[in-house]
Amino acid sequence: MRLALTLYLALLGGAAWAGDINSQRAQFNYQMSCQGCHAPDGSGAGEVPRMREHVGIFLATEAGREYLVRVPGSAVSALGDAELAEVLNWIVREFAGASITLHFEPYTPQEVGQLRQYPLNEVVQYRAQLLADIASANLRE
Ligand code: HEC
Repeated sequence: MRLALTLYLALLGGAAWAGDINSQRAQFNYQMSCQGCHAPDGSGAGEVPRMREHVGIFLATEAGREYLVRVPGSAVSALGDAELAEVLNWIVREFAGASITLHFEPYTPQEVGQLRQYPLNEVVQYRAQLLADIASANLRE
């Protein structure tokens, strides 16, 4: 654990955002802040939805893209804006798989910093509505 922490701090020290992902750091942050609920492979469990081969669906609309930041697990996490942006980009890369249909523009720390100021409540209903909107937009195409 101490080794991991030292490694983490060393990585943080060199952390300038360049839009790319430091996979080790992103995975470490995921393990520390998200994995307890979301499972190591993003499969979730119980109330926690599966992100694997699913989370990319939300990226089909602007509201969906924002949702991934505004969902409480993201928005109110202890991670800083740059770390959260990186973890979300890592989640999309690692877990979205074929669920992502459009070009994905990575989250920036600025975008994440803005959006997380508006954390969602009543998430379950909001989420269901988002997915319904995305499904009907797809049908119209
Ligand atoms: C205490 C459990 C918990 C933790 C910790 C947690 N989440 Fe979540 N997460 C949830 C639940 C439950 C949902 C479903 C929406 C809701 O009810 O909030 C969710 C939904 C999400 C979603 C949307 C996926 C979907 O299909 O709706 C994303 C993205 C997400 N979380 C990211 C994160 C990130 C990033 C972290 C770590 C920084 C994190 N979560 C930590 C429980 C958690």
